[in-house]
Amino acid sequence: MRSAALIGTGSYLPDNVLTNFDLEKMVDTSNEWIMKRTGISERRIADKEMATSDLSIHAARRAIKSAKIDPLEIDMIIVSTSTPDSAFPSTACSVQNGIGAKNSYGFDLAAACSGFVYGLDLADGMIKSSRYDTVLVVGAEIFSRIIDWEDKSTCVLFGDAAGAAIIQVSEEPGIIASYCGADGAYADADLLGVPAGGSRMPASAATVDQKLHTVKMRGQEVFKLGVRIMPEAAQKVLDTAGVSIDQVDLVIPHQANSRIIEAVGDRIGIDPEKIYVNVNQYGNTSAASVIVALDEAIREEHAKVGDLILLTVFGAGLTWGSTLIRL
Ligand code: ACO
Repeated sequence: MRSAALIGTGSYLPDNVLTNFDLEKMVDTSNEWIMKRTGISERRIADKEMATSDLSIHAARRAIKSAKIDPLEIDMIIVSTSTPDSAFPSTACSVQNGIGAKNSYGFDLAAACSGFVYGLDLADGMIKSSRYDTVLVVGAEIFSRIIDWEDKSTCVLFGDAAGAAIIQVSEEPGIIASYCGADGAYADADLLGVPAGGSRMPASAATVDQKLHTVKMRGQEVFKLGVRIMPEAAQKVLDTAGVSIDQVDLVIPHQANSRIIEAVGDRIGIDPEKIYVNVNQYGNTSAASVIVALDEAIREEHAKVGDLILLTVFGAGLTWGSTLIRL
């Protein structure tokens, strides 16, 4: 049977570390508050001269190396991001050039923190339908460029990172089940989003003065939505696959905050030891979050060939999704 398998992963974290103690000097916050409410102790910040495509290229090269493929084998590149290099051309075109994937085409995918799982869903469909054999899916963000560094309620949460995966046709089961959802009734930039800089509110001196190019969020509402939606998405793929949660070896939820991750674990009924968590080190890296975590889990041997891995995510839009993968 024609299946789509994840044959290589890679990630890139900028070297520059911003700790909670650094943030104490920037806004009226404390390490204690941030740790208690989010579980985050530090996050990475990209160098000024780097754009999202630069982070993506590093991660993609590592994924290509781990998959042991030639970049010329890649048919399609999906870069999931809310922080593209620019409105256009796409970040994916710069990635294509950077890795020398001359036989591919590519595009950017906007689904906020759900972007990587949306990208996997597309890659899975394109491969299973015989349209393509090899797809590169990247999740990459430089949220530090769209953060209001004077807003203590958001600036402590996010970090910069990129992760990448090579998905290739296979006869063995790889992506076993995949599900994505959205509810545009929540597409309110004040709930979670960046109000200005698009066609609804183009950039002007006033939008810059009012900091409307930075992330706005109503944290408690977002928290409640995440805790409800991620377990529902996870259950949907388990039901589709006819798999019980006890058979899953590792759950990787969107790394938004440790309290959300714990609540999701409780609701899906998984042993807390089987939940992979790295939000403490990197914060919320949006579209990069689950692929950076999966790559790290594989490198640290928390995830091994043959394991059943469950990804579950949610993000602005509202968007959500889940993927069940046999590694
Ligand atoms: N340091 C110190 N105090 C703070 C900070 C801070 N960094 N941030 C907020 N506070 C204060 C507030 O001003 C408020 O003070 P007040 O009681 O005097 O008014 C108090 O802490 C409580 O604020 P709340 O917003 O109610 O705090 P809450 O317990 O909800 O925690 C948090 C806030 C951590 C943001 C939480 O709501 C949360 O995690 N929400 C989900 C966020 C998330 O996951 N976002 C990403 C979604 S994915 C995507 O698509 C990007």
